[in-house]
Amino acid sequence: MKYLLGIDLGTSGTKTVLFTQEGKSVASATEEYPLHQPQNGWAEQHPDDWWRAAKNTVFQVLKDSGIDPGEIAGIGISGQMHGLVMLDKNGDVLRPAILWCDGRTTEECKEITETVGKQRLIEISANPALPGFTAGKILWVRKHEPEIWDQCTQIMLPKDYVRYKLTGVYATEVSDASGTNLLDVANRCWSDEILEKLKIDKSILPKMYESADVTGFVTDEAAEATGLKAGTLVVGGAGDNAAAAVGTGVVKEGRAFISIGTSGVIFAHSDKVTIDPQGRVHTFCAAAPGAWTVMSCTLAAGLSLKWFRDNFCEAEIQKAKELNVDPYYLMDKEAEKVPIGANRLIYLPYLMGERSPILDENSRGVFFGLSAIHGKYDMLRAVMEGVVYSQRNCLDVLHEMNVYPDSIIATGGGGSSPLWRQMLADNFGFPVQTSTNKEGPVLGVALLAGVGAGLYKSVAEACEVAIKTNPPQQPNMDNNKKYNRVYEIYKGLYGQLKQSFSELSEL
Ligand code: XUL
Repeated sequence: MKYLLGIDLGTSGTKTVLFTQEGKSVASATEEYPLHQPQNGWAEQHPDDWWRAAKNTVFQVLKDSGIDPGEIAGIGISGQMHGLVMLDKNGDVLRPAILWCDGRTTEECKEITETVGKQRLIEISANPALPGFTAGKILWVRKHEPEIWDQCTQIMLPKDYVRYKLTGVYATEVSDASGTNLLDVANRCWSDEILEKLKIDKSILPKMYESADVTGFVTDEAAEATGLKAGTLVVGGAGDNAAAAVGTGVVKEGRAFISIGTSGVIFAHSDKVTIDPQGRVHTFCAAAPGAWTVMSCTLAAGLSLKWFRDNFCEAEIQKAKELNVDPYYLMDKEAEKVPIGANRLIYLPYLMGERSPILDENSRGVFFGLSAIHGKYDMLRAVMEGVVYSQRNCLDVLHEMNVYPDSIIATGGGGSSPLWRQMLADNFGFPVQTSTNKEGPVLGVALLAGVGAGLYKSVAEACEVAIKTNPPQQPNMDNNKKYNRVYEIYKGLYGQLKQSFSELSEL
């Protein structure tokens, strides 16, 4: 019997799952870690926390499953994209990683756009310079922390740090590297032209692979730390969204998924490079060779609900403990009782500024229409609806690009909420499905490991073997009409507040 191991380095924690070759979960472990916000709009994590969580969860999964580690055919790692990890010549971490949802690099993005040229940057990297992406973070450290920059001999993306700790190898792969602004996305390699223009020495970048390629093998030291067998192969893996695409079977033209994790993502597979000239949604390499994706990303989807839970739902957290259920389950039940439109309350989910589709790092969250009749659960429902409207706003952009999914697979923590899924179906006006296996990214990278280990001939074949879907949740078109009226108001709010957001950021 052969097994596959997936490690997913999320923003709230790392999840490790052991799967059979058929994609059935055998054992799973999760460990959380903090998100540090040293300033309003900044977001950092320490790579040591990631490695500790990866090590502990791998160890736990091996223990719980009781399998012989020699039966693991391969390991895949997925993770939050865009973050900047910097190492010195000894391979030691130089500073906390600057994350995908950090908005400090507005100036650096302007500099990148001017230096490379707006059009040329989009032609090569398929995306404009965006504050979440890695290149701006590199320029920021170079400008603001020159003493750290001078010691840096290697930079990498978050999941690639875990690879480095497991295998000792500096490597990355095309799907995650697509979010750096440094990749030639059509040709799937680092862009010499962008690197030269930005004066970034190519030698500090990790070596590029396709997602299912073998990048290295578990070292003796990592085997000792985790319980894995030394010599187990580790494939490229994928950025969390490209990994979720494999884990939900979105590997063919016409297929799409929506993920409500910390971020909110709508992701459509494409056999060609399709670019939004305004950069409101991203074009990235897919984890399957010869394929690309069009993808929107909002910064505080699940994060909005987590923020609401942590600040206002202590009672639900306590009750959930007594009943041994998830607090989100109890919150769902309360939000369900509130009518559509949350009694005329609208939430804008811009807690971390926003990427798709408004591209404004100065924007912030808003409750619009707050009245003395409103209570906590109206606000809760408004938060859930606001996240859905923000996804609908992104779907409108995909439609402008002639990308028309006619059904969608829901994944991520939020995808497991039946209420959230029904809101999505009602707003989109088409069915929303789930996979029978709820593990999106972590299953995706385990399947990539299976391809790298030769258990499957291709990514598509792996998906055919391992992915099955549940019956879809159909849209209620009466509800659709009710949501449409609120959505029209939601869409107008950002434009009316744009200038005020900018002024607020100057305070
Ligand atoms: C994608 C993005 C997020 C992160 C964290 O562009 O920034 O989805 O990968 O999940």
